Amino acid sequence: MERKRIGILTSGGDCPGLNAVLRAASRASEKLGWELIGFQDGFEGLLAPMTHIVLDRHITAGIMHLGGTLLGTVNKGQFISRGNGRQGSFIPAEVLGKTRQTFQSLNIHGLIVVGGDGSLNTALQMHNAGLPVVGVPKTIDNDLEATDMTFGFDSAVECVASSLDRLHTTATSHKRVMVIEVMGRHAGWIALHGGLAGGADIILIPEIPFEFSKVAEEVLRREKEGAKCTMVVVAEGAKPKDGRVSRLSSPNGENRLGGIAEVVGCEIGNRTGKEVRTCVLGHLQRGGAPTMLDRILGTRFGIKAVQLIEEEKFGSMVSYKNHSTCAVPISEAVHKMRRVDPQDQLVEHARAVEISFGD
Ligand code: F6P
Repeated sequence: MERKRIGILTSGGDCPGLNAVLRAASRASEKLGWELIGFQDGFEGLLAPMTHIVLDRHITAGIMHLGGTLLGTVNKGQFISRGNGRQGSFIPAEVLGKTRQTFQSLNIHGLIVVGGDGSLNTALQMHNAGLPVVGVPKTIDNDLEATDMTFGFDSAVECVASSLDRLHTTATSHKRVMVIEVMGRHAGWIALHGGLAGGADIILIPEIPFEFSKVAEEVLRREKEGAKCTMVVVAEGAKPKDGRVSRLSSPNGENRLGGIAEVVGCEIGNRTGKEVRTCVLGHLQRGGAPTMLDRILGTRFGIKAVQLIEEEKFGSMVSYKNHSTCAVPISEAVHKMRRVDPQDQLVEHARAVEISFGD
């Protein structure tokens, strides 16, 4: 009998922990006597000329601690994933047809899609078209309602906190205000956790619109109390009350979140007369080695995904709830964002250690 095969691909923005998923899925597949086929460059690898590799234990050995993804990834391409997958497929019929051929020619029993919200939406459309797919959520933003945690988040938080440690010393020497912009899209998880762990004095998040006057007051209050510097962490999606989120446009028409640190920095400088410096951490938060927690979470997600394929629970996504992996329907997972609740205990605790949210 021909050996059964599982396919796997990584899609959308990368994050630390993806290689841990690949390594674990490879081992779990081999344990079943199945072969794991890795498609390169996201969904594009499914189309002719197919680019795939056998992910055996030799190829996946020694990759767990590496950032990025062995398979490569793209967040554009022929599998357009906009709109709600439940209301019909947006993947062109021709592309779906070619994908079906790939599944047949390679004897793929099920495909593991490791991706964020957009890629999981594409996975859902494939499932609705009858293709055997399971999902593994990944994003540094940790903003999916369907799972308590995504891998990549802890590594991003570690980057923010260790950057704050570094910036703190130079800010203190010069008695400056330091404004650090962090990722997270429209959720403040990275800013809140990273800021808390790194000893920030002011944290500005999308869920709690801030006032420039309050931020400036806090800087001056701290100075009056003898503080040598003020560390401000601002999430890229944060916005002032009655204001807008800051965006950067690029020559290729992309309209990305970004620029808020400069806006906040200028306002603080003008309102307080203090010397201000800004620092945008950007993709440093997505690169480098995954933390131990992300290696473990990635490993557990990889194992669970193979188990879901073996059990033919297609259309489901690996989730992490109450310290265990479990499965939820992809249809219930996509488009449901988890944001910081301003009444959350974590916010309350942050306020208890005198962190201001500028509100
Ligand atoms: O969703 C992950 C994320 O890193 C966001 O925090 C950030 O806004 C975005 O992706 C950046 O995307 P890109 O790598 O396409 O610039």
